[in-house]
Amino acid sequence: TKYGCGIGGCGACTVMISRYDPISKKILHHPANSCLLPICSLYGSAVTTVEGVGSTKTKLHPIQKRLANCHGSQCGFCTPGMVMSMYSLLRNHPEPTMEQITAALDGNLCRCTGYRPIIDSYRPFSAECCPMKGTGGCCLDKEGSISCSHEGDRVLNLYLFPSQRVAKQMQKKTLVFHGPRTTWISPASLWELLELKANYPNAPLVVGNTSMVLEMKMEGVYHPLILYPARIPELNAVCYTENGIVIGAACHLAQLREILITVVSEQPEEKTKVYRTLLKQLKTLAGEQIRSLASLGGHIVSRGSTWDLNPVLAVGKSILNLESTGGTLQIPLNDQFLTRMQNADLRPNEVIVSILIPFSQKDDFVSAFRQADRRKNALSVVNSGMRVLFKPNTDIIADMSIFYGGIGPTTVSARKSCQKLIGRHWNEQMLDDACRLIVGEIVLSPSAVGGKVEYRRTLLVSFLFRFYLEVLQELKKMKTQSKIERFSIKQDVDPGQPPQDPVGRPIMHQSGIKHTTGEATYCDDMNPVDGELSMAVVTSTRAHAKIISIDVSEALKVPGVVDVVTARDIPGENGTEDERVYADHEVIYVGHIICGVVAETYEQAKKATEKVKIRYEDLEPILTIKDAIKHNSYFGEEKKVEKGNVEEAFKTANQIIEGEIHVGGQLHFYLETDSVFVIPRKEDQEMDVYVGTQYATAVQNTVALALNVPSSRIMCHTRRVGGAFGGKTTKPPFFAAAAAVAANKTGRPVRFILHRQDDMFIPGGRHPLLGKYKIGFMNDGRIIAADLEFYTNAGCTPDESVLVIEYVVLKSDNAYDIPNFRSRGRACKTNLPSNTAFRGFGFPQSGLTAETWIAAVASKTHLPHDKVREMNMYKGASATPYKQDFDASSLTRCWKECLEKSEYYSRKTASEEFNKQNYWKKKGIAIIPMKFSVGFYVTYYHQAAALVHIYLDGSVLVAHGGIELGQGINTKMLQIASHELKLPLSYLHLSETSTVTVPNAVVTAGSIGADVNGKAVQNACQILRKRLEPIIKENPQGKWEDWIQAAHQQSISLSATGFFKVYVTNMDWMKEEGNPFPYYVFGVACSEVEIDCLTGDHKNIRTDIVMDACFSINPAVDIGQIEGGFIQGLGLYTMEEIKFSPEGEQYTLGPDTYKIPAVCDVPEQLRIYLLPNTRNPMAIYSSKGMGEAGVFMGSTVFFAIRDAVAAVRKERGLSENFTLDSPLTIERIRMACADDFTAMIPKDKPGTYKPWAIDIE
Ligand SMILES: Cc1cc2nc3c(=O)[nH]c(=O)nc-3n(C[C@H](O)[C@H](O)[C@H](O)COP(=O)(O)OP(=O)(O)OC[C@H]3O[C@@H](n4cnc5c(N)ncnc54)[C@H](O)[C@@H]3O)c2cc1C
Ligand code: FES
Ligand code: FES
Repeated sequence: TKYGCGIGGCGACTVMISRYDPISKKILHHPANSCLLPICSLYGSAVTTVEGVGSTKTKLHPIQKRLANCHGSQCGFCTPGMVMSMYSLLRNHPEPTMEQITAALDGNLCRCTGYRPIIDSYRPFSAECCPMKGTGGCCLDKEGSISCSHEGDRVLNLYLFPSQRVAKQMQKKTLVFHGPRTTWISPASLWELLELKANYPNAPLVVGNTSMVLEMKMEGVYHPLILYPARIPELNAVCYTENGIVIGAACHLAQLREILITVVSEQPEEKTKVYRTLLKQLKTLAGEQIRSLASLGGHIVSRGSTWDLNPVLAVGKSILNLESTGGTLQIPLNDQFLTRMQNADLRPNEVIVSILIPFSQKDDFVSAFRQADRRKNALSVVNSGMRVLFKPNTDIIADMSIFYGGIGPTTVSARKSCQKLIGRHWNEQMLDDACRLIVGEIVLSPSAVGGKVEYRRTLLVSFLFRFYLEVLQELKKMKTQSKIERFSIKQDVDPGQPPQDPVGRPIMHQSGIKHTTGEATYCDDMNPVDGELSMAVVTSTRAHAKIISIDVSEALKVPGVVDVVTARDIPGENGTEDERVYADHEVIYVGHIICGVVAETYEQAKKATEKVKIRYEDLEPILTIKDAIKHNSYFGEEKKVEKGNVEEAFKTANQIIEGEIHVGGQLHFYLETDSVFVIPRKEDQEMDVYVGTQYATAVQNTVALALNVPSSRIMCHTRRVGGAFGGKTTKPPFFAAAAAVAANKTGRPVRFILHRQDDMFIPGGRHPLLGKYKIGFMNDGRIIAADLEFYTNAGCTPDESVLVIEYVVLKSDNAYDIPNFRSRGRACKTNLPSNTAFRGFGFPQSGLTAETWIAAVASKTHLPHDKVREMNMYKGASATPYKQDFDASSLTRCWKECLEKSEYYSRKTASEEFNKQNYWKKKGIAIIPMKFSVGFYVTYYHQAAALVHIYLDGSVLVAHGGIELGQGINTKMLQIASHELKLPLSYLHLSETSTVTVPNAVVTAGSIGADVNGKAVQNACQILRKRLEPIIKENPQGKWEDWIQAAHQQSISLSATGFFKVYVTNMDWMKEEGNPFPYYVFGVACSEVEIDCLTGDHKNIRTDIVMDACFSINPAVDIGQIEGGFIQGLGLYTMEEIKFSPEGEQYTLGPDTYKIPAVCDVPEQLRIYLLPNTRNPMAIYSSKGMGEAGVFMGSTVFFAIRDAVAAVRKERGLSENFTLDSPLTIERIRMACADDFTAMIPKDKPGTYKPWAIDIE
């Protein structure tokens, strides 16, 4: 079981809870986020973790086997949670539907796989899916893999549950738990609860803890006494009355769903309109884990402004049944209750026992709406419940109520507007008046927390219009069903290749099984060691300031605190001139590490960080690109490449357009946060550093310099990393040095695991970019001149920002051959987190700029976008603006193949037809080509080493300098070793990457980890094989073990180092030319989407990607990289938005505020094709590096949305020459589809108010 966020947002910590249910007299199972579970609530329950489902030592569960076999794990950090969500589902529904399977995964995030293989691996558990059902086999099982078996032992009874007799007994007893600060009481009867409430009115009732936990964890709220009413029968009872159903307040939301499903199926439709509306909201409310924990009573009482059920319960005129020692009382769940008016609220000694949700009436119309940043598992931006009652057999409004959430701190009612509409006919005039009334009544300040002010105002009327239409047309709800397609991974290998040779075959990830059983260990899974301390850091609260003083005296008094470490404790070098381990005199961003507190536990250390007092003297910060340009604040010089004569070409162009695009940054959000564990050795100042990094050599050097010891004393070890994506390159060395200094000072081991919140704002992410363009083109669409200018927001230290802007410039042509081309770029120095490497390294931003100016030319010339792209693409023998020659014929092949596979033209026609028929929904489709370069322009970055040992029993240990980040490098290395040594994989083992076995390894990055390390492994294996050749010749029929014994007896070394310098590259910036990249990867993708013009929501319908992977060493791994990259790109371009306050403080600090794609975002059809019959003579076995190229393919979704928006704008007579910034969020989509509703929204003049957030790009 893993820990990914601590706030219920990622699902990594999912476990299954089993309890005895006194009402059904059964043991019930449900998934739960263990990070939210109070330990006392588990008394009498069984908790099953992934370790209890199956293991390599006992027996694997079919879920685990399938997930590993279907390549459903990459870094593996999310995998235990994925297994547990599925396992809990199967416990309750042995033959689930596909909809249930995808819903079960709603609450689980994966940053690596793109979800498709996870869904595919679970598909056979659904009776709907497998055409081989009943045969005992499964359509997805491949040769040599384990059958999933639809029948039989899919669910193992491994957990131990207290016998039902014990469980029943426990129901009757009051349970009291005393902790050092808090007492927890779980009363067994309602009366006992009421007495406790009378005596301790301030004690909260905790049921699911999903709301309370946030108060306690994030806001530090402390309760000396907590009451747990979940075992009280009255609070769990469900009964039917003639007015409606009465549901116990402790019923959790998943139970509520089951109850409502039953009632809806049993009662006449007219009575269940409110219930059906609640069911609609429950589908998208949080993930299954939260739905299984959160109670109806807790939901109602906590009353978050964006809670989705309250507006529906309110319009449904629900009644709260309260009890206290003084008696019973009914209060309505209405606007006064929701806005917490004293006379309409519970008194402190009262509890909600149950809730009456009345039946609806014949002339009632009820509906609800919610729009969130992500379709599922995301709090609403705005939600609403609406109800209208007509006078019998008329369209005259007899009663009406509308509630909105997400506008202000509580759910609000449009009571006055509704009152004024009573007596009106349901027609357009009424709608128009209703909109104006509501916009006047429901006011949102321009500085409102959460921003998106105009968008939120627009949703008020968009939802109302939707309701108007629904009522008018009595629209049936759309059935949302996951249609994510199955998919197969194939690559033809040479028919002569021996079956044991794994190269070119889809071999399972080396750690796949261990990922699924939880046996794969990450840094924080290491067992505690003697004397170990935990570290938490104090970070700057100012964007730019001098440090006047640091007072740690109060922090040192916190029990358990051992020491506080600052820059003064560093015996050697404090990082570099540009980037410090601990800030010394100045802080340069909010998040700058100032000191580290080490204590016996993390909680003690964290608590003490709040006691450290820092005095600052504020300095002027620079936060935005605009500010940086104004203040001439840059890192490095301007970088430029130019070819042809741009100015002359502009003179001959038929037309010229100019524009700019703002591309937002992106946070890495690897599931395993930055992690270090340093253990000082007793002798010679040696230290072991266990670290999650892509660059162990840099960690070793930075630690050695900080401690002022030779590098030979620092041993870095990395077994695997729970996702990195570039983000664990330059920052872990500083984290490791911070921990090492603390270990050095205290002489004790120090564990430094960044909490998710810290990990979101301390290390930085992808560079936000401003791209300006001036394009000269002919009326037939040919572009003859491009003048581009780029600025990135690099943040506060240079990090790799100069290199990133160089790549932005070098890659800014994407796939287009523009005869006169100039591209320039600068990295802006600001007081924001220092941005760093991120998968694609600048290309995703500059590529998007290229496609934006291509789209602008197409719009201006009124030509199809695909035609303009095709006509300007590189073809055949080509040269880049920096004069690197390359052959673009694979690009053309990818383009043709993608057009064909995606059925682009027929679907384009179909989408245009759909758009003619639909005014409020539009489809869009886009096909985009890509030229992606791998590697570095510095030759020495293309070296690698490996060390291969053969032991006397014939087993082989392979070590190399690359690091397993989830990208499957270790699997590929073993395949290479197996091929070269002509030895089955079962003989080979790969343990960890360490600076002890392979020194001075370069960073694992740039998509070439497998290229360079593969060559080194190949070299070492070939050396060994050569040494063995005479022995094999002497005894050709002998076994491997015989040969090894013989070699040993002949004193032949069975250990070899492999070394390789793979590619020679260069770039001369003075001459603006060079051969900076070893080779290019070509790809083309086509995506189709559907947008909702009223809310800005979009649905990903289908994506086809054709990638020129040449001969893939492992097609499963490479396709996994393409899919994972694509989904990460989809996140970058359409959802992931980083928000900063006007003071430079980052708001987006966890999965609650920063939305990465979830399972609901995977296109219903996602198909990846590897271009057949291509070769890359430069790389090992003619392969290509696939690690990063997929990201840019996500831009096809961006341009498909753009296509849909263009259709809207064309229909409405709006300008078709428009630019959309990235990410293309719900807000941007909605506001681009301007209409009467957006026009009626009040607009605030910039400069007249302080915005909640600023634009930094
Ligand atoms: C990750 C995450 C995602 C979420 N996503 C969504 C979402 O998409 N949509 C949405 O609507 N909500 C969402 N929520 C919020 C969720 O709906 C609420 O947190 C939940 O309903 C609260 O129920 P609980 O049982 O956990 O309450 P608790 O946290 O246990 O208690 C909350 C409050 O209710 C009081 N209380 C509980 N029961 C009673 C009672 N019977 N009588 C009197 N007082 C009582 C407690 O004293 C406490 O003050 C999300 C929450 C999380 C953590
Ligand atoms: S760690 Fe529990 S949900 Fe993220
Ligand atoms: S495999 Fe899912 S987060 Fe890495």
